[in-house]
Amino acid sequence: DSPRFRHSRRATVNGALAAESRRALEEPEQFWREAAARIAWDEQFNEVLDTTEAPFYRWFPGGRLNTCYNAIDRHVESGRADQPALIYDSPVTNSQRTFTYRDLQQQVAKTAGMLADLGVVAGDRVIIYMPMVPEAVFAMLACARLGAIHSVVFGGFAPRELATRIDDALPKVIMTASCGIEPGRIVEYKPLLNAAIAAARHRHAACVVLQREQCRCDLDDNRDHDWLERFDAANPVDCVSVAATDPLYILYTSGTTGVPKGVVRDNGGHAVAMHWSLENVYGVKPGETFWAASDIGWVVGHSYIVYAPLISGCTTILYEGKPVGTPDPGAFWRVIDDHKVDVLFTAPTALRAIKREDPAASYMDRYDISTLRTLFLAGERADPPSIDWAERHLGIDVIDHWWQTETGWPVAANCLGIEQQPIRKGSASRAVPGFDVRCLDESGREMQRGETAALYIKLPLPPGCLATLWRNDDGYRRSYLEEVPGYYSTADAGIVDEDGYVWVMSRTDDIIHTAGHRLSTGAMEEVRAGHTDVAECAVIGVADATKGQIPVGFVVLSAGSDREAADIESELVTMIREAIGPVAAFKTALVVNRLPKTRSGKILRKTMRSIADEEPYTTPATIDDPLILEEITQALAAARRGRTTGKQQGSE
Ligand code: COA
Ligand code: AMP
Repeated sequence: DSPRFRHSRRATVNGALAAESRRALEEPEQFWREAAARIAWDEQFNEVLDTTEAPFYRWFPGGRLNTCYNAIDRHVESGRADQPALIYDSPVTNSQRTFTYRDLQQQVAKTAGMLADLGVVAGDRVIIYMPMVPEAVFAMLACARLGAIHSVVFGGFAPRELATRIDDALPKVIMTASCGIEPGRIVEYKPLLNAAIAAARHRHAACVVLQREQCRCDLDDNRDHDWLERFDAANPVDCVSVAATDPLYILYTSGTTGVPKGVVRDNGGHAVAMHWSLENVYGVKPGETFWAASDIGWVVGHSYIVYAPLISGCTTILYEGKPVGTPDPGAFWRVIDDHKVDVLFTAPTALRAIKREDPAASYMDRYDISTLRTLFLAGERADPPSIDWAERHLGIDVIDHWWQTETGWPVAANCLGIEQQPIRKGSASRAVPGFDVRCLDESGREMQRGETAALYIKLPLPPGCLATLWRNDDGYRRSYLEEVPGYYSTADAGIVDEDGYVWVMSRTDDIIHTAGHRLSTGAMEEVRAGHTDVAECAVIGVADATKGQIPVGFVVLSAGSDREAADIESELVTMIREAIGPVAAFKTALVVNRLPKTRSGKILRKTMRSIADEEPYTTPATIDDPLILEEITQALAAARRGRTTGKQQGSE
């Protein structure tokens, strides 16, 4: 162990986790009934789990509650009124603000009043397209207070992505801000919002705009409302009781096409899972400070910036900044010191970014980070070198855990609140109680322990996972339930080893993670359909030392196109940035004569990925023309040379 190791990491496994897992799977009703006792219900549920519509399961039917009451009011009433609930830390505006549970109640109740004045009632949808400011959290909780359904759209998405979500969710109100702040530039939201509304079919939403002093915007008299004016005029409103099975939010996530999937989360199962997981997975107690360094646009932000810490009576941190550059690679350690953070959750890509700028972790020595006892990583597989680096320098346990937007909370993790398991770097540890993880072949047969195949979860999923896709039960069935009847398909592949450790190695679809952002290469390929000079395009995720993966597009020009390849490459880069957003980080398009395909016409993406990652591969026997692989290899080598000499293909 490193001499700096401050917390004991010797796991003595005495079977507590195994016992809890067994109980959760063998007696789910009793298990989750006990967990549900930690939540304040307006009306008790009739039963714990309704299986009558299987494979659609409903948790806690008949129960009524309000998620906002559980996240705020309950704590105000039970002695936490003066405890900090939300700490906003914004290096990009050089400001910090602390909201106690009482402050949060006042802010949220008035924000809810403002929405009620605009006609929002239970069941209505509200889109929240905002930067990481406290008002965004107030907006989410205000929706929950009214029983309205929020749909937060990540600020790094382009108007087209926002328009798709507007047309699917049909919001009554869209809440936004005049700008977001990225290091070195102001992102004006209003032109993006205007473009999205112009592109959408649904144009009836009222817009509430928070004017930030960094960049004010013009308001449209017929459509837009000034947030602060509306807020000042509003009266606080109370929590509205909703059914446990009513939706709390829709969170759109990348699917295999350009149409995102609207993951629906219920109120009751979600509240139970949030409370249970913070205590049992993360080992966090009420009153402690939990920091998820993510964005409220992602599921991590929903679950572990907003709902779980607040429902559990903790202090949560809303960080408007980056791991590096705001202002330096000591940013995370500064936040931990300033706010005495107990447990941190971030993405491996953030660690790699810090490590790249400060390999010796010298910035760490400038701060007192002694309160920090665990670092959790998720969003992509935590690569062992990053874990080693963090462990060595932080002197604490670094825990990889695996989950998805769809599940809403961890599927496999080292459950510190139950019993710490010995850490195996590269594995997300064992399945969390409630999740029955299986490694199955295409026919649904269980693999031998240690063999690689697709990962499934035996139904029913525990509380808090997706109930369905928004107004798309069929899509839910098709995307997740049909591959192997009785199982939820995670679209991840890996291994369950002889001790039950889960090793998640890759996706089985075309989803990639770029700097922690979930993106669909299929969606990028669809964008190129708008380019008349392009006949075909394949986008693959290529390994990147910091971002994990970056998208690279291979393009075949239309017959007869006489345009310069370099021009088309840079046009495609611009098109994808404009259609999906800057977070797509699509900077490399390469024109080739043909794409490698099987004789039946299937693009050989896996082989292309191996070439791009400079991994050994065997030329598939079914390839129609092996010579094309040589062209791909050369195009990539030229792009790499271009990058190292600063001449990136098509960079804007
Ligand atoms: N609004 C507008 N634009 C945004 C944005 C937002 N909320 N977030 C990112 N972008 C833009 C960036 O400004 C950048 O634009 P550029 O191409 O003009 O430079 C582009 O999207 C790509 O940004 P990003 O992917 O963040 O890359 P980066 O090089 O700026 O930073 C990291 C790299 C690793 C430091 C950063 O991505 C990071 O902190 N990642 C962790 C993300 C995370 O925690 N995800 C949650 C998973 S748990
Ligand atoms: P998202 O919906 O953005 O949370 O992305 C979910 C996907 O990220 C999963 O299906 C995995 O592919 C990947 N992922 C998340 N956490 C891990 C992890 N700890 N190890 C490996 N892959 C992970």
